[in-house]
Amino acid sequence: MQKITPLKASRDRLLILDQRKLPLETIWVEANTAAQVAHSITEMHVRGAPAIGIAAAYGFYLEFWQAVQTGKKITPALAEKTKALLDRARPTAVNLMWATAQMREVTLAHLAANPDVNKNPLPLLLALYDKASEIHADDAERCLKMSEQAVQYIRHHIKKDKYRILTHCNTGALATGGIGTALGVIRLLHRESRVEHVFANETRPYLQGSRLTAWELTREKIPATLIVDSMAGWMMKRGEIDFVVVGADRITRRGDVANKIGTYAVSVLAKAHKLPFFVVAPRSTYDASIGSGEDIPIEERPATEVTQVQGITLAPKINVRNYSFDVTPRENITALFFEDGVLV
Ligand code: MRU
Repeated sequence: MQKITPLKASRDRLLILDQRKLPLETIWVEANTAAQVAHSITEMHVRGAPAIGIAAAYGFYLEFWQAVQTGKKITPALAEKTKALLDRARPTAVNLMWATAQMREVTLAHLAANPDVNKNPLPLLLALYDKASEIHADDAERCLKMSEQAVQYIRHHIKKDKYRILTHCNTGALATGGIGTALGVIRLLHRESRVEHVFANETRPYLQGSRLTAWELTREKIPATLIVDSMAGWMMKRGEIDFVVVGADRITRRGDVANKIGTYAVSVLAKAHKLPFFVVAPRSTYDASIGSGEDIPIEERPATEVTQVQGITLAPKINVRNYSFDVTPRENITALFFEDGVLV
């Protein structure tokens, strides 16, 4: 089976799998500049915290590649401008700024050491491409390690042969550079024949659960059932869920977690039903500059995502609130799994 990858990079372009069209169509969008990559991130052709960080890293590289092709001067200001442009694409997932900060550092260090960079820009382009590729490959490794951390903990703490797992949003290969975060855990448990069943919340309004997670799960023949978000509590009440596992878009110093809208509600339900609630994320999602969840910028997205389905308007003219993320407080989280450890 072909590996799922949301991004295909080469020296002069980034191909982005248009996730808005999945699972019905497989369409690749081409980006050649940082502005085009930023547009794809805003429009959610590519989405998921680690994946948008990786896309932004390639977008940063492409801006410098373009500058060289068009004879534009390479300066520290170009690095700052490119980073700002990409960072504006989506505000909540910190992986985006984490990746562009590294690209900026590579550029600034190179410029400081090579004042004649405009005469010979090739080494800078190679360094930037290598850095973006490293961020990409590195995420695959992190996915595997954090998933192993979680599997080890779950096997030790939840004494069952097979698990019934609830997940929210899409945290799989489409959202990362590897097997995924929460979905990575599910993949590893499935490889060990320890998944009895996965329940995937459809994840209104963008439907990452029904379009993307359902696609990843069924492709790999992992036993799964799609449910509407509002059914999660009833499933728990009926005793049909053993634990919840989700990903994250930003984690604060105190361990509050921003993730897809609806995650907070699931965490409250899990707590009410005394079920473990796990978060799985790479360190690139951890924001040491933010103390508590209240300070995380929460993206609000267009009203049409709520009022329309596939371009068909289903609601009358009415005000809409469309927060794309919410924050789950540390108190509602049983354990957080990173590639380098577990926070309980
Ligand atoms: O709006 P999205 O689809 O980018 O939101 C994605 C999520 O909230 C995921 O759960 C999160 O990025 C963790 S995935 C590795």
